[in-house]
Amino acid sequence: MKRLTVPMIRRRKVDGVTAEPLVMLTAYTARQAQLLDAHCDILLVGDSLGQVIYGLPSTIPVTLRMMADHAAAVVRGSYHSVVVVDMPFGSYEASKEQAFESASLLLKESGAAAVKLEGGEAMAETVAFLNRRGIPVMGHVGLTPQAVNVLGGYAARGRSGAEADKIVSDAKALDEAGAFAIVIEGVVEPIAIAATESVACPTIGIGASARCDGQVLVTEDMLGMFDRVPRFVKKYEDIAAVIENTVKRYAAEVRDRSFPGEEQTYQPK
Ligand code: KIV
Ligand code: NA
Repeated sequence: MKRLTVPMIRRRKVDGVTAEPLVMLTAYTARQAQLLDAHCDILLVGDSLGQVIYGLPSTIPVTLRMMADHAAAVVRGSYHSVVVVDMPFGSYEASKEQAFESASLLLKESGAAAVKLEGGEAMAETVAFLNRRGIPVMGHVGLTPQAVNVLGGYAARGRSGAEADKIVSDAKALDEAGAFAIVIEGVVEPIAIAATESVACPTIGIGASARCDGQVLVTEDMLGMFDRVPRFVKKYEDIAAVIENTVKRYAAEVRDRSFPGEEQTYQPK
């Protein structure tokens, strides 16, 4: 299987219609990427790794170094999906030049194909600047976690008329600036649908609508590995319970000396 390309992702939506929804999941490690790769179109190295991997309280403290290292691991562990890397807070907002410097570092150090950044109209100029200089950009509107200190939390967006209009106009601005896809996160369904119908590029929903052009979840959330998850997460499995039970068995066997057994022990000839 040859690796998909950014233009192939963009072309999945033709004249407003996406015959086959895009499948995206987060990945932070090589082994995780190996397991997800064949089943996905896009692997997102999300800055959600701040909470999920590093135990941080939000995505605010995540650094370019963390993103570049995890992205490199995900690229090494995959050969089919397009790898997209989140630009961390503080690495792109100051200017389009700062964004290019950060984004080019991420792509050079990891081998990923594209970056994702949060924000709508305010970021449109940056999206166009990067795109014209060889860096494809995925947008992210609605509930944008890097803006937690401005938004005051992680509540769903688009309940008021003004907020709803802003989400749709943000999506349009990113689309016109050349974003190849747009994540719509934590948005009331009619607004997610309106945004999807207002843009030429595919939208990828999370807590949005089944009528987006694709879906994304944080893999650990979906597997039941992370403890606190938003309502929009469907827990497909309870891997945390599998891990706990397995570790319990190991600990008991160490304590009663039944591990290591004969099979796991070397003897002289
Ligand atoms: O960081 C992340 O995992 C994300 C997805 C939830 C879209 O941005
Ligand atoms: Na993110």
